[in-house]
Amino acid sequence: MSNIFTDTLQGKSTERPPVWFMRQAGRVLPRYMKMREMHSFQQLMSDPELAAEVTLMPVDDLGVDAAILFSDILVIPQALGLKVAFPDSGPVFENPFCKLGTIPGLHFDPTRLQYIYDAIDCINAREKNYTPLIGFCGGPLTTYLFMAQGTSSNHQFNDAISLYYNKHEDVKRILAQVTDACIEYAIKQCEHGIAAFQIFETYGGLLPSQVYLQDVYPHMKRIITAVKSQGVPVIYFPKGLGAGLSHIADSGADFVSIDWQVSLPDARGLLPQPIGLQGNLDPRLLAIDNRETLDAAIDNIISFWEKDRRLIVNLGHGITPQCTFENTKYAVDRIKNIPRKKSGLAKD
Ligand code: CP3
Repeated sequence: MSNIFTDTLQGKSTERPPVWFMRQAGRVLPRYMKMREMHSFQQLMSDPELAAEVTLMPVDDLGVDAAILFSDILVIPQALGLKVAFPDSGPVFENPFCKLGTIPGLHFDPTRLQYIYDAIDCINAREKNYTPLIGFCGGPLTTYLFMAQGTSSNHQFNDAISLYYNKHEDVKRILAQVTDACIEYAIKQCEHGIAAFQIFETYGGLLPSQVYLQDVYPHMKRIITAVKSQGVPVIYFPKGLGAGLSHIADSGADFVSIDWQVSLPDARGLLPQPIGLQGNLDPRLLAIDNRETLDAAIDNIISFWEKDRRLIVNLGHGITPQCTFENTKYAVDRIKNIPRKKSGLAKD
């Protein structure tokens, strides 16, 4: 099966760039908000039928070209035995490492992830008109930072980073253990049928890039190699890495997702072809009522695609609670229609 998203991943030429948005399956959708009145986030992701429904919602309601599994990066800490709750304010760990003052020994129980493979089976069973499904996990550093800090309330993770330097050997052990769990989890997702796999290293930019590259990047490469060995393309999102992007050209990832701090032409200078780029619309543009500013930013991305076809349009990070459904749908429509208008091709 092919579509514009899988064709682009495989390097085939397409008449427009594919588009999907990180966090598309969440709170920007009115139908999701309705479901959240009846179910908690944990219930929605733990019930395979409900998770399948939410996963496919943005394909119908926004018209995006791919679905991303409705789950969370913190299911790996849960499978490592840590207690995580998901109140509306964001995830909270019961006993984060910083509170314990130490890094405990953990035991990985892979059976605790079975509901996610069941959700993938449900999604694939429902999808009669093939929609590519993106599986994912968190990057080892991002996963560690949550396990250590316990929340993302200030997005700084300073205590978790102090612990990183203080208990370096213990942290290295945890990074390796998280990576091993992610590899098993990723391979199982591939076996159940996903079209692509994205690794969210959302807080990769919080460490000095040379520390990240030395301690974490080798683990990242291990995950990428494992997924690629299953024949599944990989998208790597090292948010905030900045000029450090120039050191990840040998990651093995097919595409690198770029945040809004780096322009696409600058990212291309740091990451040569055939590595594809994904991104990098500022999600805050989906929260404003000035359509001209949004149009200009979208057109800028489309102009890049006209010269460099190895591009998947996405945001520089996930949809925020302030984004509106109308703006998000408008952006998807504009991305899907502009190039054909420009190239004079008929619309379908
Ligand atoms: O739509 C999608 O992208 C698919 C599902 C998805 C969720 N979380 C659902 C979710 C994905 C890919 C994630 C990844 C994730 N989770 C990351 C990496 C990407 C990123 O956005 O940085 C991180 C850091 C987490 C941890 C996490 N989970 C946070 C910080 C929060 C709360 C804050 C927020 O942005 O919503 C969650 C809860 C969460 N995960 C929600 C959703 C839809 C909100 C739950 C709700 O209230 O409905």
